[in-house]
Amino acid sequence: MEALDHIGTVRDDVDPATAREILVYSYYRDAEMRGSNLLYRLLRVLEDAESQVNLSEHLADETRHAWLWTERIRELGGTPVKIEDGYQVRIGKRAGRPRRPLELLALTVVVEQRALLRYQEHLKRDDVPERTREVLRQVTKDEGWHVDWIRQEGRKLAKEAGTPERFDEALARFRAIDREVFAELEEKERSWFGA
Ligand SMILES: [Fe+2]
Ligand SMILES: [Fe+2]
Repeated sequence: MEALDHIGTVRDDVDPATAREILVYSYYRDAEMRGSNLLYRLLRVLEDAESQVNLSEHLADETRHAWLWTERIRELGGTPVKIEDGYQVRIGKRAGRPRRPLELLALTVVVEQRALLRYQEHLKRDDVPERTREVLRQVTKDEGWHVDWIRQEGRKLAKEAGTPERFDEALARFRAIDREVFAELEEKERSWFGA
């Protein structure tokens, strides 16, 4: 509840339901911001022109997503809550800092798929405010192509290296980590909503 208390100290006129919304969107914003970091790392290792173009657009999308969540938080009268234990931080603690392009690509596919699933799941909930639905639809629209191009690139690199199975192995390893992390975050969210 620390983060909720934090919202309370920033704005004592925010009702608990709005504070929880601000907290959820702050986690989304944090995942988008820190997800951009993985793309900066890919920018350094994928030097071909097509990857550089794709990464530029991809990075512009992720920072826009972070801004859309920030705007949504401000509409609710809040400011982004500093998140120290979000999805990307937890993933980083377990997955370390992969350096090889193939591993970086596999990790990016896994975190992008998680973002897509999480947003799709949120859209299916009852009582989602229309403005939040709008943001969810906008961000979901981009996550699809992000997964596709990164996955294609990973498969291509693995095939070129003569070890096509290596990409799928890396995916499986990061998926196991992602499932653990996501279960922890779901548990956390349940504790805020008491459901
Ligand atoms: Fe995103
Ligand atoms: Fe994305």
